[in-house]
Amino acid sequence: FDCPKLIIAVDGYSGCGKSTTAKQVAARLGYTYIDTGAMYRSVTLFLLQHNILFTDSHAVQDALAQISISFKFNVITGRNETYLNGVNVEDEIRMLYVANSVSKVSALPEVRRTLVRLQHQMGQQRGIVMDGRDIGTQVFPDAELKVFMTADALIRAQRRQVELVDKGQAVALEEILDNIKKRDHDDTTRTVSPLRQADDALLLDTSYTTIDEQIDWVVQMATERMQQP
Ligand code: DC
Repeated sequence: FDCPKLIIAVDGYSGCGKSTTAKQVAARLGYTYIDTGAMYRSVTLFLLQHNILFTDSHAVQDALAQISISFKFNVITGRNETYLNGVNVEDEIRMLYVANSVSKVSALPEVRRTLVRLQHQMGQQRGIVMDGRDIGTQVFPDAELKVFMTADALIRAQRRQVELVDKGQAVALEEILDNIKKRDHDDTTRTVSPLRQADDALLLDTSYTTIDEQIDWVVQMATERMQQP
């Protein structure tokens, strides 16, 4: 009996464990994990590296034609890593200077058009878990399983603070909370592809769950979908 391969869309707010959950769900199902945030971050990195003004639509379009983005699993680090024109940019795209510009770049219609096209191609093979903001609403509106993740803002801020402390950075809770609220606001109110829960998406509130519980729950939902005719 051959299990049908699903497309699983994972959308939601920043900092509720989306990528951690999506990555592990993909590993458990033997699916490919696709981090669409990394794609927006890679385009942002390219534009910054080449001093391209985000407002210069022609230059941005020329740049998009020169960009190739792919993911490769690294057996040494055990991570799925992002490549921009053949160069591993996994660490670079997580830097603050990239993060600070990515919301502007991800609001550009030409950037979204190009990346959504690429995401469609990546989904052709099926058997994917794709995480982002607009996967269930725009990219794969017919995905067999859509999960929308949320969590209480204060709890997300506390978790983020623990992560930062682990990295040796002391940041006030207030500051982290303000940043999270601002990102939520930006994500949900932007004009192009704002973050919203698709009508047929299952809500996963991670305020009081562990990562393992989140993963188990999504895998369970996926297994049920596979058994549906
Ligand atoms: O998930 P992340 O923090 O890596 O996302 C980086 C940025 O890209 C964030 O500002 C939201 C944006 N994004 C988007 O607009 N659409 C997606 N499908 C994924 C991310």
